[in-house]
Amino acid sequence: MKQMKFFIFIFFTITLYNCGNKAETNSTEKNTQIVDTDLTLKGKDLFEGKGTCIACHKPTSKVIGPSIKEIATIYKKSNGNIIAFLKEESEPIVDKNQYEVMKTNFSITKKMSEEELKALEAYMLSFAD
Ligand code: HEC
Repeated sequence: MKQMKFFIFIFFTITLYNCGNKAETNSTEKNTQIVDTDLTLKGKDLFEGKGTCIACHKPTSKVIGPSIKEIATIYKKSNGNIIAFLKEESEPIVDKNQYEVMKTNFSITKKMSEEELKALEAYMLSFAD
């Protein structure tokens, strides 16, 4: 009988321990989401500020460059890497004929940190269908 009580005790301890772990995982997921939103906001600042991207890319309509939505949708579908593109390490996949125009902006993006490029990518991809 004493042994039985001991087993019940162990059983509940393990169950409680597992529940605790689950709660922890959930809060970690929430934190990641908050960080992602921060990154997207930082990307918006860079896109409209220092990056000057907004001069040629509007959210949903084509002006000089394709819309952010068009670029994001194509990159998402083809699993492309916007960061690599902005470092001039990968080929254009959206509008090859206009690539020369976009290239003038690499002097800015090549000076950006990995974190800034990640933010720009997160912001652009948030427009994908
Ligand atoms: C002077 C105008 C201009 C500016 C400024 C500009 N772009 Fe572009 N961008 C273009 C044009 C035109 C294209 C279409 C050519 C192409 O697809 O490479 C393009 C294409 C792109 C693409 C798709 C590339 C692909 O695979 O074809 C991305 C991503 C992009 N721009 C991001 C940015 C970001 C981020 C900034 C700001 C740091 C920026 N652009 C600033 C004109 C511009």
